[in-house]
Amino acid sequence: MNQVLDIIKSRRSVRKYQDKQIKDEELEKILEAAIYAPTGHNDQPWHFTIIQNRDLINQINEGAKEVMKTMDVEWIANMGKAESLNIFHQAPTIIIVSGRKDATTPLVDCAAAVSNMLLAAESMDIGSCWIGLAKFYFLNGENMEEFGIPENYEVHFGVSLGYKVRKNPEALLRHKNVFNYVDVPSQNINKPNTKLQLGVIMDVIEKRIEETKVAYIPYSGSYELIPEHIQEVGQWVMEKGLEMTGRVYGTYFNSPEDVAEEDLQYEIGFSFAGDAVPEGKIGIKEVPEHTVLSAIHQGPYTEVGPVIHAVVDYAVANGYDIVGPVTEVYLNDPAEVPESELLTDVQFPVMKIK
Ligand SMILES: Cc1cc2nc3c(=O)[nH]c(=O)nc-3n(C[C@H](O)[C@H](O)[C@H](O)COP(=O)(O)O)c2cc1C
Repeated sequence: MNQVLDIIKSRRSVRKYQDKQIKDEELEKILEAAIYAPTGHNDQPWHFTIIQNRDLINQINEGAKEVMKTMDVEWIANMGKAESLNIFHQAPTIIIVSGRKDATTPLVDCAAAVSNMLLAAESMDIGSCWIGLAKFYFLNGENMEEFGIPENYEVHFGVSLGYKVRKNPEALLRHKNVFNYVDVPSQNINKPNTKLQLGVIMDVIEKRIEETKVAYIPYSGSYELIPEHIQEVGQWVMEKGLEMTGRVYGTYFNSPEDVAEEDLQYEIGFSFAGDAVPEGKIGIKEVPEHTVLSAIHQGPYTEVGPVIHAVVDYAVANGYDIVGPVTEVYLNDPAEVPESELLTDVQFPVMKIK
């Protein structure tokens, strides 16, 4: 077992914390990890501002949102307007990371320090999140001064820290086709794409899906509008300032193999943390923890059919009862990757009967 690699792989962005403050000795270890990060030219051009006072954290949150509202980038402006959003996710400790402007590579050095802090926190089972939005409050020189950030420094990032309220969920699926090997003789290094090839399913596996709250809209009709439906629900979740927790899904209650296109019934939803009530077409519900058989499909959404059949065949062959409709969890964004790299996690809720 290699603990460092385990921690790298188990760290997740944590966006819900216990009220309880972390211990001073834990904070010290996290800060120490920060200053052991590599820096260009060994400049060590960073400064860390540690804040544990709720009122001050709220002041930065509110001030950052006021600035965000005025930004041209739509998603930032929308987040600024989201009343219930707390950019630090109500963490009891935050750290503001600033870089010396005239250093060789201050932004990169600060990023390396943040990365070290997140891993150090994870190694002590402390939740953490990288907060890019923190910098908006510190675009104003007076605010920099009020918080004791040295002159000639610029705030790049924030970090939120606190005890977790739940175990980390599994890591989001990583894009694997990002390596190329040149003149590498070793046979022991995994070549890219050995498992994830177009249309090829990975193994069918059984896994537990944690309890989660979802916002969803039920739809009927053609599947062609699914990308627009995803946008519609996603936009609502974002405008409400809810914390998206990563599950973007469609649940399909019947199949084009059985009914006409106009009679297809499905729902599209997003998982979130926070409080929300149903509004118009938007429903809110808690999906309880459950067991699924899952397989990953790579390729266009329209070609997921054989993977669905493969999971059903696996269930039958291995003594599982399928106890609900199929859910497809969309693991990457059609706006960001070509169709051939789209990843869909096909999940059937099951009970083991034999
Ligand atoms: C430069 C940078 C800025 C980020 N800013 C924010 C932020 O302001 N708020 C937030 O909740 N997460 C923020 N994140 C966290 C990412 O959303 C998160 O790392 C990503 O979704 C992957 O999830 P994971 O960290 O659980 O693997 C930021 C990450 C980076 C690297």
